[in-house]
Amino acid sequence: MSPFMTKLLSWVFGRPENPEYNEPARVEKDFSWFFPPKTLTDPLSWDRYWYEHISHHYDCYVDMVLNDGELVDALRQNGLRKILCIGSGISQEPRALAWAGFDVTVLDLSPFAMRVSSEVDPPESYLAQLVGNRERTAEGSLKFVAGDLCDSSYCPGPYDVIIDRRTLQLWPADELPIAMQTVANRLAPRGLFYSHCHDGSFSFQQPPTHALESWFKQEGWEFWFGEGSLTNRAAWLTISTG
Ligand SMILES: C[S@@+](CC[C@H](N)C(=O)[O-])C[C@H]1O[C@@H](n2cnc3c(N)ncnc32)[C@H](O)[C@@H]1O
Repeated sequence: MSPFMTKLLSWVFGRPENPEYNEPARVEKDFSWFFPPKTLTDPLSWDRYWYEHISHHYDCYVDMVLNDGELVDALRQNGLRKILCIGSGISQEPRALAWAGFDVTVLDLSPFAMRVSSEVDPPESYLAQLVGNRERTAEGSLKFVAGDLCDSSYCPGPYDVIIDRRTLQLWPADELPIAMQTVANRLAPRGLFYSHCHDGSFSFQQPPTHALESWFKQEGWEFWFGEGSLTNRAAWLTISTG
């Protein structure tokens, strides 16, 4: 890790001495917990990742910039109701979408994350904020499944919508096509594959890139931007940077 990154993480997660509570300063030197494990098959490594995130109070940042308002509008306009969220970890996005009236299933490798997510009970105001304060129009449902998204026996679908946030981009290039295809097979013939990719290497010299865009292009997918009617299968790609 670069000295800059170590300094930044120490600043964020180190705790200064607090005489009021008689707390000693916490000086951390090992930030390996902050980075996603390399494995995409070992549930224990991902359990540990989420456990460490929660114990470092980093859970409050997970949904920090999430706003599904436009997504909710587009799904409602097109009558799409049945959602599969893959690799959501401890995000409260699935719960917020279920709160707004959708039937949501979550598939994640980490049993710990699935247990935490199923047990938390955030205030309604928090959930409403995640869906852009859209109205709650129906009674939705929420189901958590711990399993490997590459195993097609989990959550076979079909689903109207699949939501991937920063998960499929973790797959190595040679294993990505099979992971993408296994996920895409769960989508209905008229359905939306919504994928949010984080481009951490973005610089102002080049536009940000979506790591999965070339796969969708090669496979001849239509791209959709949330407006108009959805008539077939389409991919809606979003990118964050920084
Ligand atoms: C980088 S995190 C993304 C979490 C969340 N979507 C977000 O954007 O904050 C990747 C998630 O994928 C899950 N994951 C890793 N490998 C997986 C697999 N083979 N099948 C299903 N989920 C997997 C991990 O447990 C973790 O929750």
